[in-house]
Amino acid sequence: MAIDYQTHEYDVLVVGAGGAGLRAAIEAANAGVRVGVICKSLLGKAHTVMAEGGVAAAMANVDERDNWRVHFSDTMRGGQYLNNPRMAELHAKEAPDRVRELEAWGAVFDRTEDGRILQRNFGGHRYPRLAHVGDRTGLEMIRVLQDHAVHLGMTFHMECTVVDLLKDGDRVAGAFAYDRERGRFMVLKAKAVVLATGGIGRGFKITSNSWEYTADGQALAYRAGAELMDMEFVQFHPTGMVWPPSVRGILVTEGVRGEGGVLKNSKGERFMFNDIPDLYKNQTADNEEEGWRYVLGDRNARRPPELLTRDHVARCIMREIKEGRGSPHGGVFLDIAWIKSRVSGGAEHIKRKLPSMYHQFKELAGIDITEEPMEIGPTTHYMMGGIRVDADTQMARVPGLFAAGECAAGLHGANRLGGNSLSDLLVFGKRAGEFAAIFARERGDAKVHESQVEEAARRALAPLERQAATGSEGPFQVQQSLQDTMQSLVGIVRTEAEMAHAVEEIGKLRERAAKVAAYGNREYNAGWHTALDLENLLTISEAIARSALDRKESRGAHFREDYPNKDPEFGKLNTILERGADGSMKLRREQLPPMAEELAKVIEEMK
Ligand code: FUM
Repeated sequence: MAIDYQTHEYDVLVVGAGGAGLRAAIEAANAGVRVGVICKSLLGKAHTVMAEGGVAAAMANVDERDNWRVHFSDTMRGGQYLNNPRMAELHAKEAPDRVRELEAWGAVFDRTEDGRILQRNFGGHRYPRLAHVGDRTGLEMIRVLQDHAVHLGMTFHMECTVVDLLKDGDRVAGAFAYDRERGRFMVLKAKAVVLATGGIGRGFKITSNSWEYTADGQALAYRAGAELMDMEFVQFHPTGMVWPPSVRGILVTEGVRGEGGVLKNSKGERFMFNDIPDLYKNQTADNEEEGWRYVLGDRNARRPPELLTRDHVARCIMREIKEGRGSPHGGVFLDIAWIKSRVSGGAEHIKRKLPSMYHQFKELAGIDITEEPMEIGPTTHYMMGGIRVDADTQMARVPGLFAAGECAAGLHGANRLGGNSLSDLLVFGKRAGEFAAIFARERGDAKVHESQVEEAARRALAPLERQAATGSEGPFQVQQSLQDTMQSLVGIVRTEAEMAHAVEEIGKLRERAAKVAAYGNREYNAGWHTALDLENLLTISEAIARSALDRKESRGAHFREDYPNKDPEFGKLNTILERGADGSMKLRREQLPPMAEELAKVIEEMK
């Protein structure tokens, strides 16, 4: 088959232009290599902007007791000790420099009275640690990274989707892609590839993710021979909008709780006081007054229970809803209006601290959050699991293939702390770019094999060719069925029977996906694009369901009604998945990487 395609050639190809991709591209360009960036959407449209409340870095600007050790131990405890300790160490040590560097590049953070970067409280962080720009932190970070990257000089391929990675023997050799506007094919030759494509929100019905997030990077890496790790851990952010239906799932930043917002059920009770996990008992307030003193900066007060980790808060909310104490539209109430009488500036203070939330609720739900409580409920937000990478270099098992940000695994363990995503993408985006450039320099050219290009093109064109077949369905129905399956059977609360059912359903959806037809031609064809996304969505959904089925305990974001407790044996094990020679998914368990003595000591001390 003769395939018509354009060829582009780079040293380092970055797939994805959110925070991790841009930071990797900047570092690689700084190293003097030729960099290409390919992204599914327009530049600047990335899930990074949905990390609104801040970037976590132990700069100690608000509480001088903070340092990398506390941040490290908070991250490990939040992740229920499944985290890769070396990654957690690098992250905690390097995050402050990455934030200061961003400021030097032009990020305008909120300020303390004496002019330093202001930091706020967030769930699971012992001290106020989140550097922020109101409630638009991710947006500001993207703006700055984008400006910086563009000025360094690199090529951007916007609105283009990668179909498959290309390989030369074991090592990566580039990517085969198409442009979404015209459907033209492209071969992007590269000596090293960095994947930074985000998560799988669009595999679930209720999500804070927009349409791009179909687990492309994880699936591309898996098909190319990389391992996936800890895929059972999917984060359901406790606070998404629930009403009106058209905006269900849109994020309500944790910054609302960081500024003093409280959760209440339909009886007006602050139900979070009813369930404080042992791991956090000595740090969490057991009365309203004390919690409020903490928010106002009283160093001796303990944190309010609304600032417990996301996994726990989301489950508490679900329990209220399930037991009939929810809000009219199936959520609970989040109230920030009550702080008006406690702070100077009243309503203006709320508007200044949370400008986006104020506008979001005013415009989308007709609610003035300075007067009324918000209705909120959990929304699928983030994947802790992902591509298994080396802690220092971010390289996957496939030589020359790197991953950073949400699509990589290791830093967050069983549950991510809010704000650690933005610091993750800065720290490990930089590392991925740096080591990808080194790899490209040291290893030189890789050859693109025409047979792989032809195979990728054949696969890409198949849904269009099936439009003549009778009885084929469109791709959107299959995606919707998958979203229903994942939401209801592999969601916040899981059971053996439901997850086994999900694996079976995903198998049936695979059969349907293999027959879907995309109607029309290659230009502006959303049906065709979705048909191609389906394979990635289904592969990674299967990875989540199989991993979750196999972990017979509850830990972090993975909660099983049939195994409601932690099992110390599972607490020593990561879940690893790879593609077997027969194409089937192989799962095994591996001991966690050993923790350096110095780090184990830090954890002991912090307890
Ligand atoms: O709630 C938020 O602002 C989200 C932050 C994050 O996911 O890190």
